[in-house]
Amino acid sequence: MNDSIRFILNGEDIVLKEADPASTLLDFLRLKRRLTGTKEGCAEGDCGACTVLIGRLANGKLKYETVNACIRFVGSLHGTHVVTVEHLAARDGTLHPVQQAMVDCHGSQCGFCTPGFVMSLYGLWLTDETPSRATIEQALQGNLCRCTGYEPIVKAAEQVSATRPSSLFDPLERERSSIMARLWNLQTSDTLVLSLNERRGIVPATLEAFADLYAEEPTATIVAGATDVGLWVTKQMRELNPVIFINHLTELQGIEIGRDGFTIGAGVSYSQALSALSDEIPALGRLIARIGGQQVRNMGTIGGNIANGSPIGDTPPALIALGATLTLRTAGGRRAMPLQDYFLEYGKQDRQAGEFVESIFVPRPHEDSHFAVYKITKRRDEDISALCAAFHLVLDIDDTVLAIRLAFGGMAGIPKRATATEAALIEKPWTAETIAAARDALDEDFQPLTDWRATAAYRQLTAKNLLTRFLLETTGRPQELRRFALEEA
Ligand SMILES: Cc1cc2nc3c(=O)[nH]c(=O)nc-3n(C[C@H](O)[C@H](O)[C@H](O)COP(=O)(O)OP(=O)(O)OC[C@H]3O[C@@H](n4cnc5c(N)ncnc54)[C@H](O)[C@@H]3O)c2cc1C
Ligand code: FES
Ligand code: FES
Repeated sequence: MNDSIRFILNGEDIVLKEADPASTLLDFLRLKRRLTGTKEGCAEGDCGACTVLIGRLANGKLKYETVNACIRFVGSLHGTHVVTVEHLAARDGTLHPVQQAMVDCHGSQCGFCTPGFVMSLYGLWLTDETPSRATIEQALQGNLCRCTGYEPIVKAAEQVSATRPSSLFDPLERERSSIMARLWNLQTSDTLVLSLNERRGIVPATLEAFADLYAEEPTATIVAGATDVGLWVTKQMRELNPVIFINHLTELQGIEIGRDGFTIGAGVSYSQALSALSDEIPALGRLIARIGGQQVRNMGTIGGNIANGSPIGDTPPALIALGATLTLRTAGGRRAMPLQDYFLEYGKQDRQAGEFVESIFVPRPHEDSHFAVYKITKRRDEDISALCAAFHLVLDIDDTVLAIRLAFGGMAGIPKRATATEAALIEKPWTAETIAAARDALDEDFQPLTDWRATAAYRQLTAKNLLTRFLLETTGRPQELRRFALEEA
């Protein structure tokens, strides 16, 4: 065991010995280091004012990603390179091309959001030399501006990619090999413990060490991407002790693509899943692209989205509709179960003391099957679902329903299949008449709640309409789909 964590902050080596492991990187930057370029807007991962880059070694390469410093815990930083907006300009004050483009394109007014935007643009600049407008918009999904409007900021991104200067200008490109060497030296096979008074944050070196630790301390809070747990601290002021950080465990971050399907490690981030699975299961890719903003997708994990048991988590309905199997692990072994069986009731999952989510297997959908996911939100981007529906249909050669799985989020206390509706459809002709009958069966399956995202009546009607939409989409009748949409509007 080692009682400190080490990382690089801009150019400086940081050793933390006594610190609250569940304090945020944002507080560390602003309060302890006086790096006040990183701003606090919402403290919940929504506004992007606190965006910084985190670099880490992965498969022998140094990879930087944007994250929200407001919900990233200091205890999770070992072996990383934290880059703040202060690191961008040259020593003589010359702005980085990304910053200069924001000036040239009038991308800033009050300026509060600007460092966050600059860091998101910089993250994009590092990874994509010729981003499309859609890619730029995606990179900025997690940044809010209340005065400038987004057009000048998007123009700044376009300008900087069009006039891209030599990478020698760029601090991270210049320093790349020395940072890699320094990060390499920080790699350790020791379990690390960061503590302050009685509070402990444990960073196991391996998956096996994590399994043993969790068996010994089953009441510890596992922290993966912290996009849920971060808010328990910043919004609910909960004190977590001890916490076990697992975001660095590469054994949990693999995606195996096989002939029969995909095995996704629990620690795979949304961004990783998006790039690996979009071509394989496009509807799943489109769904993941609408989860949070880029920073949240870089941090949040598929395992966390399942483990938290949320009734409105977006990936569970899609994975249930695809027939996914969950693998839970303990120090003593593993067990697998259909994902749908993991969710027992609101706030309760089939997980024993010391068990954690290790991976999920998603069978490859048959090329002739139809799979669609509908995320219904008030805003298109960066919004939690009022309801989410995922439908997976296999038709027989005579267009009767051979197999169907309908899974919903936001309609019950857990992500859940609509079994009565499925029964009303199976072996029936895939027609408007069959759907009309099946729409009524949805009343048997669900009695949703009214909350501030949607009323019960809205949820129920929308769920029924999504079934009709799925029929029209799968039977290739765009005109009828359009008429239906206008009638329902
Ligand atoms: C701004 C913002 C926007 C968001 N938008 C969306 C959205 O559009 N759709 C959506 O579905 N969610 C959204 N979320 C919620 C969040 O991104 C997800 O629930 C996320 O998947 C949680 O994963 P994580 O790795 O961050 O989990 P963490 O916060 O680290 O953990 C969440 C829970 O899971 C447990 N846990 C984590 N990993 C494991 C494991 N391997 N085994 C056992 N337990 C584990 C933790 O102990 C904790 O109880 C959003 C969150 C934020 C902050
Ligand atoms: S302060 Fe708003 S996302 Fe961090
Ligand atoms: S410039 Fe004021 S919030 Fe963006």
